[in-house]
Amino acid sequence: MFEHLREDLASVRERDPAARSTFEVLTCYPGVHALIFHRLAHAAWKRNLYWLGRFISHISRFLTGIEIHPGAVIGRRVFIDHGMGVVIGETAEIGDDCTIYQAVTLGGTSLYRGTKRHPTLGKGVVVGAGAKVLGVLGGFTVGEGAKIGSNAVVVKPVPAGATAVGNPARVLDPERDAERAQKAEQMGFSAYGVTRDMDDPVAKALHGLLDHAVETDRRFQVMCKRMEAAGLKLDQSVESNDDFDASRLSKMVD
Ligand SMILES: CC(C)(COP(=O)(O)OP(=O)(O)OC[C@H]1O[C@@H](n2cnc3c(N)ncnc32)[C@H](O)[C@@H]1OP(=O)(O)O)[C@@H](O)C(=O)NCCC(=O)NCCS
Repeated sequence: MFEHLREDLASVRERDPAARSTFEVLTCYPGVHALIFHRLAHAAWKRNLYWLGRFISHISRFLTGIEIHPGAVIGRRVFIDHGMGVVIGETAEIGDDCTIYQAVTLGGTSLYRGTKRHPTLGKGVVVGAGAKVLGVLGGFTVGEGAKIGSNAVVVKPVPAGATAVGNPARVLDPERDAERAQKAEQMGFSAYGVTRDMDDPVAKALHGLLDHAVETDRRFQVMCKRMEAAGLKLDQSVESNDDFDASRLSKMVD
């Protein structure tokens, strides 16, 4: 117990530039207090003292603003920074060295009892302020060293080392984004369907339609040129440009 506490205090000093002394961390960090209470609550839970576990957890929530279900499994050197509004569900598992900021929910979307329904965080995961990581039935894993952006809503597994942002969360992939930008340049249209702001389903649908229109337009022009090259003279109305400006429309949607 004391060894764990010593580790917790050291890890807070390492990870929070605002921490000035170990005494300050011990006395003024609700995340540290919540973990001390959780160890007691979890010990009671494992001995089938369910009410006692829940009651300790309730007292802890009252004092710290952090709600950890006594059944949750929490690793070593976990740092809950600020902590107010954090909710950690019964079947959640948190690996060693994770950092969790205020208002994070490690929750579930299913109402089944007794089954794994909350997420598992691998070692060293960082969950930004306000993020919701919501496990479906059977839960899912956020891989080792992954980062979850503040206010992200994660409902699918996140690979180890990846960064997920947005609602619903998407994994940032700088290489793929660069590839898309290159392809967009070749097509003469900068948005090319999937942009950084793909959180809004309506924007997503409109970008999809714009992409399709741009591609259709391009094929049509190629077809016209080939027909002309083959000696077919096109009607003036077919050749006329209807002022379709995909880039301008795309900016309006973003
Ligand atoms: C997600 C996070 C870990 C990313 O950090 P990073 O790996 O350094 O990534 P970057 O800051 O280079 O951002 C990469 C891209 O994601 C975007 N992004 C970053 N955080 C985001 C978030 N929370 N939501 C949506 N997009 C986000 C950036 O705008 C950037 O987009 P761009 O490439 O178009 O410019 C970080 O931004 C974050 O949210 N950390 C949590 C911090 C927190 O909660 N602090 C509380 C202190 S009290």
